[in-house]
Order: sequence, then C-alpha cells, then structure tokens
Amino acid sequence: MTRHFLRDDDLTCLEQREVLELGLALKKDRLALRPLAGPKAVAVLFDKQSTRTRVSFAVGVAELGGYPLIIDAAGSQTGRGESVADTARVLTRQCSAIVWRTYAQSDIEEMAAVATVPVINALTDEFHPCQVLADLMTLAEARGGIGGLKGAKLAYLGDGANNMAHSYLLGCAIAGMEVVVATPPSHMPDPTVVGTARELAIENGGAVEVTADPLVAVRGAHAVASDTWVSMGMEGEAAERELPFVPYQVTQELMDQAAPGAIFLHCLPAYRGKEVTSEVIDGPASRVWDEAENRLHAQKALLAWLLERS
Ligand code: CP
Ligand code: NVA
Repeated sequence: MTRHFLRDDDLTCLEQREVLELGLALKKDRLALRPLAGPKAVAVLFDKQSTRTRVSFAVGVAELGGYPLIIDAAGSQTGRGESVADTARVLTRQCSAIVWRTYAQSDIEEMAAVATVPVINALTDEFHPCQVLADLMTLAEARGGIGGLKGAKLAYLGDGANNMAHSYLLGCAIAGMEVVVATPPSHMPDPTVVGTARELAIENGGAVEVTADPLVAVRGAHAVASDTWVSMGMEGEAAERELPFVPYQVTQELMDQAAPGAIFLHCLPAYRGKEVTSEVIDGPASRVWDEAENRLHAQKALLAWLLERS
C-alpha cells in the first residue's frame, strides 16, 4: 500500500516518533541514507511561493541520492488547467514521490487517490504538516530528545483558521502534547479539525484547547509559536487581517509568562512588528533558524520512511 503524508494525522504517534528519530539521526549524518540513489526523481510542485520548502526538498532529495524536479505551476500545464488526476498519472509513471504545495486540501487528496507513489503535502490552505514535523523536532532538541515532547505545552497565537493552526492541533495532539490555539473568535479553527485533535489527544495523552485569551495560552508553555496574519492567497484581505490579531502579537511580556527556558517558533516568513516583535524573534528564546534547518532533516526522514513502506 502506498503511504502518503497529506495531513499530520496520516502518521500515528509511534510513526511520528520514528520519523522524528530518523530526522535527528540524519541531522548528525546527512548522507547516511540513499533511498533515491540512481538518481530517482521526486517531483516538487509549487502553486504558491516558497523559499524554505523549495530549498529543503531540493537539497533533501539530492542528499538522499535523488533528483529533485522542481515544477512551478506557471511553467506547467497544471497552470493552464490540466486536471489533477491526469497530472498524477503522468508523474506517478516517472517519479518516486510527489511533493505538492497548493490551495485546496481536496486537490492533494485527489492526487494521492490516483498516484501510486507517496504524495507529500508541502502546504495547503488547510494544513502544513511538514512544517510541524520540523517544529516538533526543534522542540524535542530543546527538551533533550523526542521523549521530551510528551506532556510539553505549545501555544500558538494568531490566525486560528489557517494551515499552521490546524497542523499544530493535529501534530501536537499526536505527539501527546498540550496544544493551545489563541485566536480571535472571528478566526476559530475548523471545528472538525479541533474534534479530531481532541480524539487524538485523548488517545495519546495530550490535551487541546482553543481560547481567545493569549495570556491563558502562553502561561507555562514550553514553546510559543506564531505565523503571519495574512497567509498566501489572502493578500486581498490584508487590511482587515490586522486589527483583530494585534492582541495576539508575541511580545517579550507574553514570553515572560511562558515556562522558564520556553522557545519561540515561527514557520517563516515572519513580519516583525506584526505577529511577533523583533525583540522576541531575534532574541535568545528564538529557535527559528534551527526550525528552518530542521525542515531539511525532518523531510528527508519522512521521504525515506514513506518510500520504505510504499
Ligand atoms: N515555512 C515555509 O513553508 O516557508 P516557505 O513558504 O518559504 O516554503
Ligand atoms: N500560513 C502561512 C504559512 C507560510 C509558510 C501561509 O499559508 O502563507
């Protein structure tokens, strides 16, 4: 059976742990695994902009011995309306895996339904699961290993309805963590995702909370995370997406309420003075550059893990 990674809950707690452990091992020895030796090709498709995802998948596929085939929508027939299913049929005959950044989650699900090679979500409007793997790896490093994730508290402040909020809810619940999303009532997460996260938290010994109070969220947190208030595709709403989020800006005063030694995470790109102050993101608690580097290690581990099981 082909394994895909379309949402955070496509990995069980044990599987997530295996991938994270492998990511830590690959960070120590970057060329230890060569499942793509040949080189075999991995298609990496972008319908939206990207710096980190593009670089980390290109470098990662090459380090696994493979050939990263980077395709931008504008330069391919998908940009002119070729169907998802037909694109999947073509890619699956020639590539060992498909990585896709796009808009609708339903499109990547359609891709996976047709493809017979692993499909990886490189960000949709609803989820950004590769990012959360890197974030969990970064928090694990700060807490002495993967075992340090269970029971740890992560507070996410900002747009509760975006891809990062949804992926934190699922990914942290699977890791057995306490995850709190603090967001204005106008930008609550998808209730179905919250419901699934609650079930996963019960299974894995974690907890899930959604609140409008940023102080409640950060109190005692081991990691405080934020993200842009204006996700890709929402640029037209930029003006309305400022005022409701101002109380959720991560400031030093809020960080002071977190647990001693708490780290700050941000998937990047960041907008200093909006969702986070420069004092925090450029300060001693910030782990954002480790987090960006960990995209590489976590995704290499994920690719190797999926290829072995597909
Ligand atoms: N964090 C992240 O996915 O960054 P890019 O948009 O630059 O890929
Ligand atoms: N929520 C952001 C994440 C960017 C990596 C967006 O979708 O633009």
